[in-house]
Amino acid sequence: MYQYPLPIPTVAQPEFTETVDGRTVQFYSVSIEPYTKQVYPNLGPAHLVGYNATSPGATFYVPKDTETIIRYLNNGEETASVHLHGSYTHSAWDGWASDVMQVGQWKDYYYPNSESARTIWYHDHADGHTASDAYYGQAGTYIIYDPAEDALGLPTGQYDVPLGISDKIYQSNGDLAAPGKSPINFFGDTIEVNGQPWPYMAVEPRKYRFRILDMSLSRPYDLYFADPSGNWIQFQVIASDSGLFGGPISTSDLTISMGERYEVIMDFSSYAGKNITLGNNMQQAQINEFGNTNKVMMFVVGNTVTDNSNNGAVPSTLNGNIQWPAARTTVDHTFNFQMGGESVWTINGVDFNDANNRILARPPQGTVELWELHHTGGPAVHPVHIHLVNMQVISRTGGSRGVLPYETAGLKDVVLLEPGETVRVLAYYGPWNGVYMFHCHNLVHEDHTMMDAFNTTKLAS
Ligand code: C2O
Ligand code: CU
Repeated sequence: MYQYPLPIPTVAQPEFTETVDGRTVQFYSVSIEPYTKQVYPNLGPAHLVGYNATSPGATFYVPKDTETIIRYLNNGEETASVHLHGSYTHSAWDGWASDVMQVGQWKDYYYPNSESARTIWYHDHADGHTASDAYYGQAGTYIIYDPAEDALGLPTGQYDVPLGISDKIYQSNGDLAAPGKSPINFFGDTIEVNGQPWPYMAVEPRKYRFRILDMSLSRPYDLYFADPSGNWIQFQVIASDSGLFGGPISTSDLTISMGERYEVIMDFSSYAGKNITLGNNMQQAQINEFGNTNKVMMFVVGNTVTDNSNNGAVPSTLNGNIQWPAARTTVDHTFNFQMGGESVWTINGVDFNDANNRILARPPQGTVELWELHHTGGPAVHPVHIHLVNMQVISRTGGSRGVLPYETAGLKDVVLLEPGETVRVLAYYGPWNGVYMFHCHNLVHEDHTMMDAFNTTKLAS
């Protein structure tokens, strides 16, 4: 436990950049490759399949309004389709599950990156095996940044760190155990961050910005920072899926489910020379929970600050420009996330293989719709992800909790449905027309096939 350092993914480098008519386009190339990695240096290697043979993949840092073209070459073992989760990609490059690259094929994906600054992520989306592809390593972080954010003085550089959390099962020889064939859930006994089980990170006694992503197949977390006596420490949540909040939200714990991102500011300044743990307060009642899934990683706080810049108070106004959708109280669609049928899971009884019926909504391009998402029962949770859009979470009813303050402080692209809950989400269906997926981000459910589509239908001209 806490034996090996936190790996920081490398930064993706463009192969070339071109400026055309004032538009800047960066070209990257990524190969999906099987490889081996010493996850446990004292055991045998783990067999993984990752983007450019790394896992998580390299972190992309793209300035807002710089367009990117990423050539993905599938040198892996299965078909592949790449989705940039949180990007308003035109549908042709959005990672449609059956628009796959066969082994040996490549595809150029084009991204406009004209959304506001945010932490998004890229992962495989191939029909029927997204879960195992993500499990074996096809996932990484992609950051759109806005130079205008610099004025906020938030921690940058070595003090701005992506933390991708997932749960795995390793065999005693150091290799991964297969996630298995259960269509219900996959829960690992090992919690890893950036591909390393229970790592530690040496930090300085100052503020850090952590971009937290739940990359797990089926496991949500309730994260907290604890001091050596086990007391939870207050921290600030500054952003979620679609970027910065209006202002920071203070909390001592953070619920994050699969596919969600939250950015937090943690201040280690009072803990010089101490160890701070990141723990998980959410245990799974659906299984006989494993012994150490309540632990995530450790921060070993040093005694010196080498760089005190961007270490001041978090501004009370972070973002005055959140693009809230226009108000609407009429429910346009109700979607039941339910069990049943051969595919195991469906939305309103329709599974993704039902090509004639799987388009469940046709919001005219550029309109706002209010969708009601309903969990019809059973113990498994459903984090619902709608491609293309940014959602405002309006309400959560039917269960024991309402909406959490950090779920409504900004826009989101995933919202968690716990048993019996009904969540209303408002979103602007644009800017592009086209067919997009929406689905449960429990990737095991997605594969079995709690996924359908909507069509932002083109306006008549
Ligand atoms: Cu993160 Cu449709 O996926
Ligand atoms: Cu689900």
